[in-house]
Amino acid sequence: MRVLVAGAQGQVGHELMRAVPVGFEIIGLGSRELNLADSQQVMKRVAEIAPGAIINAAAYTAVDRAESESAAAYAVNRDGVALLADQAERAGIPLFHISTDYVFAGNGISPYKESDPVAPVGVYGASKLAGEQALFERCSRALVLRTSWVFGAHGQNFVRTMLRLGRERDELAVVADQRGGPTPAAGIAGALWQLVQLYRDKGELQWGCYHFSGGPACSWYEFAEEIFRQALELGLIERSPRLRAIVSSEYPTPARRPLWSVLDCSKLNAEFGIQQPDWRTELRSVLQEWRDET
Ligand SMILES: NC(=O)c1ccc[n+]([C@@H]2O[C@H](COP(=O)([O-])OP(=O)(O)OC[C@H]3O[C@@H](n4cnc5c(N)ncnc54)[C@H](OP(=O)(O)O)[C@@H]3O)[C@@H](O)[C@H]2O)c1
Repeated sequence: MRVLVAGAQGQVGHELMRAVPVGFEIIGLGSRELNLADSQQVMKRVAEIAPGAIINAAAYTAVDRAESESAAAYAVNRDGVALLADQAERAGIPLFHISTDYVFAGNGISPYKESDPVAPVGVYGASKLAGEQALFERCSRALVLRTSWVFGAHGQNFVRTMLRLGRERDELAVVADQRGGPTPAAGIAGALWQLVQLYRDKGELQWGCYHFSGGPACSWYEFAEEIFRQALELGLIERSPRLRAIVSSEYPTPARRPLWSVLDCSKLNAEFGIQQPDWRTELRSVLQEWRDET
């Protein structure tokens, strides 16, 4: 089966490209070759490639910038997804799409289920939610994987930022009142490939929305603690900075973040046997990869 991957150069896109299962032909395109804000280009490319399935790993992901660039965020996260959904429906193929914990308000106290009410607190989350809705309205074979706090060996993420700042400063203030699930990009790619394989083998799938994030849940502060603990153990850094726990109001950002974004991932496990990855194990793999590169 030929699979088209949109956003092939992002964190998740990169992992999708390096974990292609046997028996698949994969066409991975970056934003230049497949710009989701360019409808003519998208229609032409999808028709030329004639894929048997599409995975959309492309998105406008600049959470803070989205507050002042709402049109740009919606152009990719809603309209771009609608466009891909139309192409998939016309061709009678499925669209596997990634969404976010930021569709929730973040005032929960127990892990969010797929059926819980959504109420994004920022433009990015609202644009991603609009993308989910456009997808389900337009495409009968649509699967949305909502994930959170993505990190990987390739691209910008919290792990990379912590290590850079930790080398520059003696003390780092890290937000301790937001809780979520750090999720390895490689784990998302693995889950998506499992789903695509299941579809190829069965010719069908239980379409819909599923949650997939790493466990155990933690705060950014606890995530940072583990990053420095492992980095020190692996010899990636020579010393760990002092970490100071702060609350979100002490670190103001243009976009508000949900305080609670822990996802209940049991539906994906019950339906497909796909389990939550332990982010601490995957963190080690990412750090080891960086150590081996240096
Ligand atoms: N990162 C997180 O913490 C997080 C959390 C929850 C959910 N998610 C979701 O997970 C998915 C993958 O995220 P990620 O972390 O891999 O993001 P990422 O590293 O920022 O990658 C996103 C990719 O989308 C591409 N893109 C941007 N605008 C585009 C356009 N107009 N047309 C085509 N491609 C475009 C970017 O290409 P350029 O670089 O060339 O612009 C980039 O390669 C996204 O759906 C995101 O919303 C991410």
